[in-house]
Amino acid sequence: MAFTNDAALLEVNDLVVQFPSPNGWLTVVDKVSFSVGRNDIVCVVGESGSGKSVTMQAAVGLVQPKGGRVTSGSVHFEGQELIGMGNRQLNRIRGNAIGFIFQEPMSSLNPAYTVGEQIAEVVRRHRGASRRDAWKRAVEMLDRVNIASAASRAHDYPHQFSGGMRQRVMIAMAIACDPKLLIADEPTTSLDVTIQSLILELIRELQRESGMSVLFITHDLGVVADIARSVVVMYGAQVVESASVEDLFRAPKHPYTGGLLEAMPQVALERGHDPVAIPGTVAQAHAWPSGCRFNPRCVFRQDGVCTTAPIVLSRDDHGLVRCARSSELRGVLAGMGIRQLGSAA
Ligand SMILES: Nc1ncnc2c1ncn2[C@@H]1O[C@H](COP(=O)(O)OP(=O)(O)OP(=O)(O)O)[C@@H](O)[C@H]1O
Ligand SMILES: [Mg+2]
Repeated sequence: MAFTNDAALLEVNDLVVQFPSPNGWLTVVDKVSFSVGRNDIVCVVGESGSGKSVTMQAAVGLVQPKGGRVTSGSVHFEGQELIGMGNRQLNRIRGNAIGFIFQEPMSSLNPAYTVGEQIAEVVRRHRGASRRDAWKRAVEMLDRVNIASAASRAHDYPHQFSGGMRQRVMIAMAIACDPKLLIADEPTTSLDVTIQSLILELIRELQRESGMSVLFITHDLGVVADIARSVVVMYGAQVVESASVEDLFRAPKHPYTGGLLEAMPQVALERGHDPVAIPGTVAQAHAWPSGCRFNPRCVFRQDGVCTTAPIVLSRDDHGLVRCARSSELRGVLAGMGIRQLGSAA
């Protein structure tokens, strides 16, 4: 479903991405649409394999080098079409107007160079800064992400930093050129809970100060509650729901979102029961069920209604949902939400 938002910084419309398999091309991102406003924080949430990372990689031309292809759709960044844009132009945008934090922090830092050199290199490449100015900026950025004694720590190698500090270095690299959009792909997943909340706090603070927008990918609704203003829920390569963070937590519209909430320890605590995991496993691209892709795992499945024709994304006053029974289920699912959003954080 295409929708437009003139004020959007990033607008993804009907994006389709495929990867080759022994059985032909598999669609791993299927007509995904969402937008990120200016000064906005959008979270994309969904189980492993739902297509979150590939969506972001495709948006900025990073699936072709991995053997994938974008077969249709558009991605507008500040009104410019990124799909089909040449590599030279994309290189100018990536790491500059769009900063990235990738899912694997260790593989993104080079063990052979000091952290200062690696941040300085980004500044030199995109800003044409002199060595001296780029180094100065690297130290300034390390300080900005709260690395103590930044001037001396800039001379250290990645292995001399803890996991949380390496993630701060990744953030420093991603924002060194003052991006308008920061794409953060599961930046806190490998960190323990305390460090995770410090990193989230840092990203929130940097966002507030700079006014950049953040597109944050996670599979953790606790993180969503902590950082998002609006949320896109993906399941089986598709968007199944999108809403403001308040609406999503108080009154989820898709049974999958309701299931994710029931699986949150914070929700279980509020209701005095153990977290309830969604039964079954995530649908795979080579074997989507017919009808709703979530139907084999859905407690609200109705044969025929949910199991034959593909379900379209429909809009109501509070967002988008892809469920054949969404109007009937409104009251039931609202009961699965969290009354106080703060309690989820
Ligand atoms: N380079 C690749 N070659 C082939 N298939 C790929 C490739 N990268 C991703 N895929 C497939 O695309 C689908 C979506 O993967 P993606 O990495 O976007 O999932 P994700 O939602 O980010 O999951 P996770 O939470 O585990 O990071 C998966 O089925 C995955 O196997
Ligand atoms: Mg991923």
